[in-house]
Amino acid sequence: MSSIVSLADRINALEESATLGMTKKARELAALGHKVISLSVGEPDFKTPKHICDAAKKAIDDGFHGYSPVAGYPDLRKAIADKLKRDNNIEWNPENIVVSTGAKHSLANVISTLVNPGEEVIIFAPYWVSYSEMVKLAEGTSVIVDGAFDNNFKVTPEQFEAAITPKTKLVMFASPNNPTGSVYTEAELRAIGAIVAKHPNIFVMADEIYEYINFTEAGHFSIGSIPEIKDQVITVNGVAKGHAMTGWRIGFIAAAKWIADGVEKLQGQVTSGTNSIAQKAATVAFNGPLDEAYKMKEAYLRRRDLVVGLLREIEGFKVNMPDGAFYAFPDVSYYFGKSDGTTTIKDSDDFSMWLLAEAFVATVAGTSFGAPDCVRISTAAADEQLVEACARIKNSVAKLK
Ligand SMILES: Cc1ncc(COP(=O)(O)O)c(C=O)c1O
Repeated sequence: MSSIVSLADRINALEESATLGMTKKARELAALGHKVISLSVGEPDFKTPKHICDAAKKAIDDGFHGYSPVAGYPDLRKAIADKLKRDNNIEWNPENIVVSTGAKHSLANVISTLVNPGEEVIIFAPYWVSYSEMVKLAEGTSVIVDGAFDNNFKVTPEQFEAAITPKTKLVMFASPNNPTGSVYTEAELRAIGAIVAKHPNIFVMADEIYEYINFTEAGHFSIGSIPEIKDQVITVNGVAKGHAMTGWRIGFIAAAKWIADGVEKLQGQVTSGTNSIAQKAATVAFNGPLDEAYKMKEAYLRRRDLVVGLLREIEGFKVNMPDGAFYAFPDVSYYFGKSDGTTTIKDSDDFSMWLLAEAFVATVAGTSFGAPDCVRISTAAADEQLVEACARIKNSVAKLK
């Protein structure tokens, strides 16, 4: 390629999505006839509940075929405001809500709307792969703060406070977390909130996409419900995980009006209102009932227990207990430096690639989640597949000496 004609620097600097990259490799091996068990993708294996699908069919028949308002249909924004009150103890009006094309889009919108070049975004690690890349696109600076394994991968309020500088604009994290499944308790979030309250120029992006997949007795707590920092918190959520609607692409933010207006302004120039049919389906999802979501949670809990139990039997694996979401995140660093006679495992990238080639089990290396000692294993698969995958992993790593 000519050195004059090339991609923009911002795209050249961007990493490929590791999860999608692994999924592609797994598909290639499957196409060659190998019995690949794909546990790399972060996607429920359930179908979208019928009453939600019916609402989409009705929306087509009722003629919702045109452009929607940029921030979403009024009945959807009202359903989200009602949901926030019902589930999260957060009181926002529909005008504080902007609906976008998935929570991923919502997160990217907020970062682009708030972060100036050179401003710092504190990211609690391990973190979801796209966070740091979104910050990069906005020319912000990611400040990664590591949650320790012994604290179930959670960042302490003290660690957070120590990372704040005059350039800090935003702090972002997901609870329940992808990839660790960790859930921040109400006490932990209140302690973080107390620090935020001392810094009126710092904003919190609370990614609550796994809200309904929470196994703790206390349940989900939203940092946005703390009155003192209400205007500083942007709550992000959507339908993808809890309602098994990944392909429908509906996410939202709930935030102070000036932030919501900024996001709407950006979205008005880039994508316009998101898919009209999906919005109508999401309205039904947010209005409830949530019976199907809770049934799915029970299945994820059973599989969590199954997979964590099996992984803990594998020599050298250090496995935390996920309190939510649908991932296991074992520390596999015990195998770094070991070899099967042909391949030496240097890091989790090698480990994950080796496992795919050796056991035909697709996982994702922890490197791109900011946790290079770990691999992410999705538990959103049939029980038999999970049992078979764990057996293959166990048999394979026994060859590493
Ligand atoms: C932590 C986290 N946030 C956001 C998203 C994106 O959700 P959506 O599919 O609604 O864009 C994901 C998807 O994997 C995720 O794991």
